[in-house]
Amino acid sequence: MGTGQHILTNKTPSALFLVVTVDDGGEGAVRDAISGLAGLVTTVSSRAPESTLSAIVGIGSDAWDRLFTGPRPAELHPFVELAGAVHTAPSTPGDILLHIKSDRADLAFELGRLWTGALGDAVTTVDETHGFRYFDLRDLIGFVDGTENPTGADAVAAILVDEADDPDFAGGSYVAVQRYVTEFAEWNALPVPDQEDAIGRSKLENIEMDDATKPANSHTALTNLPDVDGRPQEIVRDNMPYGAVSDDGDKGTYFIAYSRTPEITEVMLRNMFIGDPEGTHDRLLDFTTAVTGVQFFAPTAEFLADPPP
Ligand code: HEM
Repeated sequence: MGTGQHILTNKTPSALFLVVTVDDGGEGAVRDAISGLAGLVTTVSSRAPESTLSAIVGIGSDAWDRLFTGPRPAELHPFVELAGAVHTAPSTPGDILLHIKSDRADLAFELGRLWTGALGDAVTTVDETHGFRYFDLRDLIGFVDGTENPTGADAVAAILVDEADDPDFAGGSYVAVQRYVTEFAEWNALPVPDQEDAIGRSKLENIEMDDATKPANSHTALTNLPDVDGRPQEIVRDNMPYGAVSDDGDKGTYFIAYSRTPEITEVMLRNMFIGDPEGTHDRLLDFTTAVTGVQFFAPTAEFLADPPP
């Protein structure tokens, strides 16, 4: 099994999410930029050795065949659009994802700047979102986000493709992103006990509700999946708050999830948007709207250093 990219890190104060499409004829430059990314991380890190800086690159389904020869990740497909009775999860363009994490916003910016410089006019940027830590790892809706993420060996098992499932791509991970825009005037007008019902946890102390109390349409009731054949159905989320302070600009949550198969995230999304049972959509969605949705595969470091021509 190859070496996975730096997905499992401590939560950093800054993140940058860049999604680009590859222009016709830009494939060679993009391949070079992908192989050169690790060197750029080293270059920028060496100027601030006391700080953390890492970057993960993901490749979308259509782009995969344009960039590489040989086999493709077994489960790589475009993001599955979901149209529920009330809310929709759109599938939007995106060939390459760059996910930068740092404890300094300037390092994240510098790495992003150098990498987009290397890409030059080979790509078109379709979404650029700068995320920041908000108090004690809270989303802008005021709830702590990430608590139930698996940790340690459980996290590794949750995100790495198994040798048995896909020997050519073992050690890589699937990664799904969605940018959500939240209506804060409406959310903040909701009394805190109702907000807590929407999430399924208490707001201040972040305590999970017991099963008898937790509403069926709460976010955590719909995203906590039962084991399948004794195996946990978990993802590792690295969501970040982002946005403009003025009323006019978008603000909300950048959702990003790593997993050993895209199916687990897809089941969670179906539960949220279609409902489980059908019609019981996630209450959170009444206040926050998905405006992007893209599926990628994050190959191993070895693959990125020397991709097949
Ligand atoms: C849990 C926020 C989107 C999957 C949570 C929690 C919060 C939260 C506050 C509770 C604490 C925690 O365990 O992290 C949000 C916000 C979102 C969002 C603000 C977007 C606006 C999503 C999406 C998915 C997802 C799209 C999956 C496709 C999960 C999972 C849990 C969780 C698996 C843990 C459930 C459990 O085991 O209790 N989220 N989330 N979230 N969320 Fe989200």
